Amino acid sequence: MQFVKDLISIRDLEKKHIDLILKKSSQMEQALKTGKQLNSLKGKVVATLFFEPSTRTRLSFQSAAMRLGAKVLSFEDIGASSIVKGETFSDTIRMVDGYSDLIIIRHSKEGSARYAAQLAEHPVINGGDGGNQHPTQTLLDLYTIKRAKKKIEGLNVTLLGDLKHARTMRSLLYGLAMYGANVELVAPKGLEMNREVIEEVKKKFNANVKEKSTIELSNTDVLYLCRIQKERFSDQYEAEKVQKEFRITGETIKGAKGDMIILHPLPKVDEVAPEVDSSKHAYYFEQAKMGIPVRMAIMDTMVV
Ligand code: NCD
Repeated sequence: MQFVKDLISIRDLEKKHIDLILKKSSQMEQALKTGKQLNSLKGKVVATLFFEPSTRTRLSFQSAAMRLGAKVLSFEDIGASSIVKGETFSDTIRMVDGYSDLIIIRHSKEGSARYAAQLAEHPVINGGDGGNQHPTQTLLDLYTIKRAKKKIEGLNVTLLGDLKHARTMRSLLYGLAMYGANVELVAPKGLEMNREVIEEVKKKFNANVKEKSTIELSNTDVLYLCRIQKERFSDQYEAEKVQKEFRITGETIKGAKGDMIILHPLPKVDEVAPEVDSSKHAYYFEQAKMGIPVRMAIMDTMVV
């Protein structure tokens, strides 16, 4: 079952494809729980090319590939690759395409994953391209929400943080809109979600998206936070200033519904106070675990 050659943007998938991936993710989670051996990627080589830092995405892709029986190729450190000798991005992709059956790529430039997919004969999965897209994070976010809340449609979801630069938020807004969630966007001044992205989901899905300047959580079912993406600021001082002003504490979540869950793609920096970490609402470590079954499901559908 292969719906697309490459997974570069969440827009590449139709809802029926996402439904199948979510269903398969649940089967993968079950298989992991029962210790069932899986081997749908046996004899395959998966390459993880991360030109930007990563902990969860790279490790969970590698772990997921190994759990499906694949072998994994990777350069952990760009400094140790021929990039430092001046090898071009396109040459690197062409080489790795010859060494592997599937490429997972992360790069700071928007559009780099799409370009890699045009160069490679094998499937390419985007593990994050600049501030643009992070489709596999969205799939694991949707899976986590559905698993916790039994549905996505009609939920009130608040997206909070650096909505201007966070690729996780851009992808997720699209996914939530596709599934009919009601979305509230709250961002520090100057870090609001790109207008075109909001207009697109309103037009395509008739999505209920509201922009707010203050945090009001009394109706929220899912609060999704992200850090200030300081590496995408031209002025580091500005990034640090916003970071200091932006923090979720026990006070912020006081009036929230008892069953509200808090998600975060991680890493978190200063935006979450320790008392939130230990509250019943914190669900992000559970969310991070879902990276394995969901990425297993994704790769299983993409490698033929
Ligand atoms: C995110 C990313 O890289 O976009 N991390 C992740 O993949 N879990 C979020 C972030 O860096 O803030």
